[in-house]
Amino acid sequence: MSRKWILTLLIMLGIFLIWVGMVGLYMGEFPWSNTDDVVDEDAIMLPIPVLLVDENEDKNIAEYNIVAQQGQTSFFNNVSTPTLGYNGSFLGPVIKVRRGELVNMRVQNDLSEDTSVHWHGLEVSGESDGGPHQVIRPGTFWQPSFVVDQPAATLWFHPHVIGSTATQVYRGLAGLLIVEDEYSDRLNIPKDYGVNDIPLIIQDRSFNNDGSFDYSSNMMDGVVGDEILVNGAITPVLEVDRVIMRFRIVNGANARNFSFELSNQAEFYQIASDGGFLEEPLQSRRLFLSPGERAEILVDFSDYNENDVIVLKSGNIRVMSFVVGKQRTDTTEIPKTLVKIEDLDVSKVTGIKTIELDGMGHMVSLNGRQFDIDRIDDNVSLGAIEIWEITTSRMMMGGTGHPFHIHGTRFQVLSRNGREPDENERGFKDTVFVGAGETVRIIVQFKHKGIYMYHCHILEHEEAGMMGQLEVE
Ligand code: C2O
Ligand code: CU
Ligand code: CU
Repeated sequence: MSRKWILTLLIMLGIFLIWVGMVGLYMGEFPWSNTDDVVDEDAIMLPIPVLLVDENEDKNIAEYNIVAQQGQTSFFNNVSTPTLGYNGSFLGPVIKVRRGELVNMRVQNDLSEDTSVHWHGLEVSGESDGGPHQVIRPGTFWQPSFVVDQPAATLWFHPHVIGSTATQVYRGLAGLLIVEDEYSDRLNIPKDYGVNDIPLIIQDRSFNNDGSFDYSSNMMDGVVGDEILVNGAITPVLEVDRVIMRFRIVNGANARNFSFELSNQAEFYQIASDGGFLEEPLQSRRLFLSPGERAEILVDFSDYNENDVIVLKSGNIRVMSFVVGKQRTDTTEIPKTLVKIEDLDVSKVTGIKTIELDGMGHMVSLNGRQFDIDRIDDNVSLGAIEIWEITTSRMMMGGTGHPFHIHGTRFQVLSRNGREPDENERGFKDTVFVGAGETVRIIVQFKHKGIYMYHCHILEHEEAGMMGQLEVE
């Protein structure tokens, strides 16, 4: 072969390699790589938290053991993230309790820092609430016990120590607390946990290149992550049979609001808000949840075809996907009515309080001041019914509002800006979003004694002092 031919071959080989390289760069993969597995490789299945085992055999007494611990969690291939969890490396088990039951909890702190466990939404005495006054030192445990006395609902639990609530939640400390009662027993709705009754703890996180969480509290207004996690997995997939599915959704994010919808704009039915069932299923295409709020929805997948993909999204953000599977006999239904709600009696109101939520970022205040654990801001007598009027200032630079939460009680929304609240806010709640420049009136009753927090559930706002405490006696 002449040298000319060899040179031509070498040039052609060079051009071919450059072409391959450019195609590879452009497509993010090389033409001969097997793309068939990509979907499988990338699709993380939705993790279902385990149901915590009741360690007491007496059916009227429950005993639960929770350990706050450190761990490593792999959110991406090949890197692991230092995380915190309850009885595991990230998030915690689901605890199911029944109305009327005596519950003994034992919470062990195996962390190297103080923590506490607050039962968000549970109506218990201040001592059992798990707020900043019930600190658990490293290596010690806390044993609250209480009788559950409130309707079926989806509640949750998370740390509540001064100075590290936001970071401990971010690193993974949160779990679901489900209350059941005779009404939730009787309703013919999906209630097979992990099968057609699925918890969705929705959060957002940012990561550094080494896999560690990037918690940057210098953000303008609370810490918002750029990946969405559901039950601790990034934008996961759930295979659903062609049946009615029930989702118990918790906005467990530190600061992000979600406005959920399905990618095909299909309607679903909201059946519960923070404090329990609504009077009837509410047909809807959108569900707004601010940090701390919960909702239960029913989605009917029976008319879809096998392998259809429906995305749960919030604005343009993908939260998770549902892949439709097999037909299965389904005896559950979307009921016409759910429960009868006994409204708190406005004629029995004995006090009116005003709460002014102001500011953003680190410059926040509640009624003009910042939280002080040595100061009781309000006193309420046991059993009293009050109206609280919560206002927020108009916010500059994108602040959208404040999710306002009260410990140890449930309340009803009376009005929003002088108008009737939306239909999905007519049940009992424990967290209500007060948008920029809005005024929300709630009616609330205090049925247990003790010291309770009330605060904005943007955890960075709470941490910066947008919190007060009241004593019920
Ligand atoms: Cu989720 Cu002070 O609470
Ligand atoms: Cu709470
Ligand atoms: Cu706030």
